[in-house]
Amino acid sequence: MRVVLGVSGASGAALAAACARHLSALGAEIDLVISKAGERTLVEEIGLEAADALRAQATRVHAIMNVGAAIASGSAPVAGMIVAPCSMRSLAAIAHGLDDNLLTRAASVQLKERRRLVLLARESPLTLAHLRNMTAVTEMGGIVAPPVPAFYLRPESLAAAVEQIAARAVDLLGLGRPQAQAWE
Ligand SMILES: Cc1cc2nc3c(=O)[nH]c(=O)nc-3n(C[C@H](O)[C@H](O)[C@H](O)COP(=O)(O)O)c2cc1C
Repeated sequence: MRVVLGVSGASGAALAAACARHLSALGAEIDLVISKAGERTLVEEIGLEAADALRAQATRVHAIMNVGAAIASGSAPVAGMIVAPCSMRSLAAIAHGLDDNLLTRAASVQLKERRRLVLLARESPLTLAHLRNMTAVTEMGGIVAPPVPAFYLRPESLAAAVEQIAARAVDLLGLGRPQAQAWE
């Protein structure tokens, strides 16, 4: 079981590592691709070592401009993809099929192959362009899952909220036993 984890430059870099942990717990191989802005937000929000720590969790690491990587093709046996976090720029590129780097190309591949694509799209407030791009991705079969906390579970910390959001994102791939805490 192989999953692409894309990390773009929206706030919420901690979501990337949390998704990687939950994917590993499922036994999934992780193909990681981080955008330039994603590298920047990892540093700004977590620290200098964050990108390397994330890369250490991956099975394969791909350079953002390597559009010749295996995951750029529908022939690679990939189960689906999560973009965590997903910037409005990457959302727009995916919505319009620009395929302008390996992250957006791999996302397009999931859509064309009719596989799961989960975007943890983070921005607030939203412009009409953001909303239209979310609609376009949804119309193509992608899942737009903004990283909002499950307040009803009363998370005790930001870290707990991040874990829950990441677990829900992984559950949305539909690959195994649900990992997210459920409302009882
Ligand atoms: C600290 C920081 C936080 C950011 N937060 C967001 C955000 O929450 N949402 C967003 O769409 N862009 C955010 N940006 C801007 C994006 O990084 C920028 O639009 C970039 O071009 C996205 O490129 P990418 O999609 O290739 O990663 C942030 C940038 C920085 C440096």
